[in-house]
This record gives sequence, structure tokens and C-alpha cells, in this order.
Amino acid sequence: MPLQQKHLLGLEGVSAEDISLILDTATTFREILDRPIPKVPTLRGLTVVNLFYEASTRTRISFELAEKRLSADSVNFTTSTSSVKKGETLKDTIRNIEAMKIDMVVVRHQAAGVPRFLTQCVDAAIINAGDGMHEHPTQALLDMFTLREKFAKLQGLRVAIIGDISHSRVAGSNIRGLKAMGAEVMLCGPKTLIPRDVEKFGVQVTYDVEDAIAWADVLNVLRIQLERQEAGLFPTLREYHAEFGITQQRLERAKKDITIMHPGPINRGVELDADVADAEYSVILNQVTNGVAVRMAVLYLLSGNEESVS
Ligand code: CP
Repeated sequence: MPLQQKHLLGLEGVSAEDISLILDTATTFREILDRPIPKVPTLRGLTVVNLFYEASTRTRISFELAEKRLSADSVNFTTSTSSVKKGETLKDTIRNIEAMKIDMVVVRHQAAGVPRFLTQCVDAAIINAGDGMHEHPTQALLDMFTLREKFAKLQGLRVAIIGDISHSRVAGSNIRGLKAMGAEVMLCGPKTLIPRDVEKFGVQVTYDVEDAIAWADVLNVLRIQLERQEAGLFPTLREYHAEFGITQQRLERAKKDITIMHPGPINRGVELDADVADAEYSVILNQVTNGVAVRMAVLYLLSGNEESVS
């Protein structure tokens, strides 16, 4: 069954069937990654451009690896070494790259809506690798894959997302994806970092991190963006840690098993203590490993290639 979309711009409106198809396909690719030679010829002849206007470690490298594991040709674009420095527009940039005959574009940009804009400029399939404060769909997909790997199903799982919900594209995509898959979602953070119209998400909200820990099976802890402090949205990093930081003591008080996730990069000692990030109940590095398999699945399904994946 093919995916019901040509592009992956976000998880808004993406059906549970499409999410399940991506996660099921990623399961096959995850097994391939454990082989002695973790490479298949599935996307041989296909050319992918990784168009990163914003910094990235995990997403950029895992897309590059996913493309190499599938035998696609990949080209990396970074603004610092491109003609963007000479004032070339986004539209001219993408149309010139397309003129060199490419099939897919993976794009990260600081402005929300850029992936959708690119669909109007070129025929290539567009994959959103994070656009402003809007969506980061492959992050939410790899988060769901990691949860399904650990808990076997998402239906009924209680996931609390902790931190700066208002400015987080990871939160946006996770809320949409988890709800589509039947998980329960709670949001937790300072009032200044929770959207005013939060009811529209149809999720629970708490401003007390101990309530969230008591309720949840899983804590997905978001990175505190340091510029929010400069904007006056919370007082100091020390106070943020005291009010919302995930510590071993807080988890022990809850007297229950809990799974810790974080999309990275972590501010150790701010939103998450180092011993919690590195504990055996943390799946943070599993998320990173699974990101390659999930991105392989997205590339494969959007390529329209109907050959067997193995
Ligand atoms: N999770 C995530 O998007 O990390 P990077 O910014 O390093 O890609």
C-alpha cells in the first residue's frame, strides 16, 4: 500500500495508517542496519539533496546515512559555503539545484512553511527536517518508533512532553502523531512556555512536573532554548532546573518505572540531569539509532520505488 502523500511536510492530517506504514517499513530497515554490511541497493539511481539552512547534528547525519544505506546519491548543501551568502533567494537556489536533476529534497530552515513553499517551486519530493517552530515530523516518527519498540504499541501509552511547548517543532509533531496513534499526551512546563490556545490540541496540561511524572509512562524532555531566557519567558536556568528539571530524586519519589526521551541536543543539568540522561531507563541513544531506519523508510516510501526493501 503506497503512502497517501507525495511529500512529508508535517504530521498534521497524516493518518494512523500512513504513520503505521512508515513505522512498519522502518522495522525492516532497522534489521538491515544490524547486518555486517548495512546497505541495500533499493534507491540506486536516485539523487537526494540535503538542504540545511540551520545547524543540525542528528537529523543531517542520519539523513545522509539513510541515503547511503539505501545506495542513493546524496549532495549536501550548507548556507555558509553557498551563494546564499551572495544574496541568492531560496527559490532561485532550489530551482538551480533541481536543474541539475535531483529527485528528493530534505530541508531544514529557521522559517516555518519553507518545506511547503518548496513544493510550489519544484517537482521533487520534499521532506521537512524541521521548519522554524512548526513541525519536525521525522523526529516524532523516530520517537514513536522507539516507543513502539519498547512498549509494542502506542495505543493508551501515557507520554508527558516537558519543557518549552510553545516554541517546539518537536512537541508539535509529537502531539499530532501520538494522538493519531491513540496515545495519551500531557504537556508540562512554565505557563509562559505553554501555548495560550493549548485546548485546541485536546491534551492534558499541568504546570507541576511531579504531577506529570506521577501520570506518565514516558517523559519526552525538550531542550530549553537559551534565547527564551533572554526573552524573559523564564527567570534563570537554575530556577528552571529547580521547578522542571528531571532529576533522579524526582523519579525515585514517583516509585515507578519511567522511560526518558530527549530529542537532543541536551542541556545537561538544566532540563535533564546527566545521570538521568545516561541511565538504563533512558532511550535517548536508541532514538538516534532508530532515526536512521525511520528516515530510510520515509525516503523509500516517498521515492515511489516499489521494489522489495531488502
Ligand atoms: N533532534 C534534532 O533535530 O537534533 P539536531 O538539531 O542535531 O538535528
